Amino acid sequence: MEVIITRDYNEMSLKAAAIIAEQIKKKPDTVLGLATGSTPIGTYKELIRLHKEEGLDFSKVTTFNLDEYLGLSSLHKESYNYFMWKNLFKHININHENVYIPKGDVQDAEDFCHWYEEKIKEFGGIDLQLLGIGSDGHIAFNEPGSSLMSRTRVKTLDEQTIRDNSRFFRKEEEEVPRFAITMGVGTILEAKKILLIANGVNKADACAKFIEGPVTSQITASALQLHQHVTVVLDEEAASKLKRIGYYNWVRDNKHLVQKYLGR
Ligand code: GLP
Repeated sequence: MEVIITRDYNEMSLKAAAIIAEQIKKKPDTVLGLATGSTPIGTYKELIRLHKEEGLDFSKVTTFNLDEYLGLSSLHKESYNYFMWKNLFKHININHENVYIPKGDVQDAEDFCHWYEEKIKEFGGIDLQLLGIGSDGHIAFNEPGSSLMSRTRVKTLDEQTIRDNSRFFRKEEEEVPRFAITMGVGTILEAKKILLIANGVNKADACAKFIEGPVTSQITASALQLHQHVTVVLDEEAASKLKRIGYYNWVRDNKHLVQKYLGR
């Protein structure tokens, strides 16, 4: 796991967008896994800028989103479908047919989850999965206690997540859905590369636990320790409870020293 500590939210966003852009340039028909929440908004803004000002081409890219609230149609202003179109898709040249986001208003959610998993496989799997993290250490909507082998399924949201996300809903907690469709931890772990971003002091605990604590289903992000290609980009506040900050910063600043041994 590579841990990159950046000064602030802006630097975190630029770094994350640069990693995604590099992936798209290397493989124009990249399959991206995308996340919602307040954390990736800056990353998406920078990707939009790279598209508009530097010609970053999304025409062959396919995307799969992590999750969606169950019971919300894609027209609902707090749905993750609405979020993705507003904050990214409508500003870039992505082919609309290549956008996959779980549907919150499906008749048969189980059937849909199975279809979603198959669709990801059909595209050869996810090349690069972007993740945020919940304050209780969850990734996507894999709340504490989720199986680390879990697949796309319906999940009941934790009280903490409902409280955290109530800020987006007008009538506060009453309106936050109690259920969601989410990719499983096992689904996420099958992505070829993973990029997790986190900022702010309210993520510091979760980051310390998932990066330096034991692997546990109580902190589902800790399962990323089992993956071979994970990059974590944090701001200083989110990194503030890590014990090995000196090591991560040394690695970040001295990458050139190891290059000669790697034959690249
Ligand atoms: C929700 C989403 C997660 C996201 C988390 C954190 O639970 N399902 O994918 O990482 O919120 O959101 P924020 O970035 O707003 O802190």
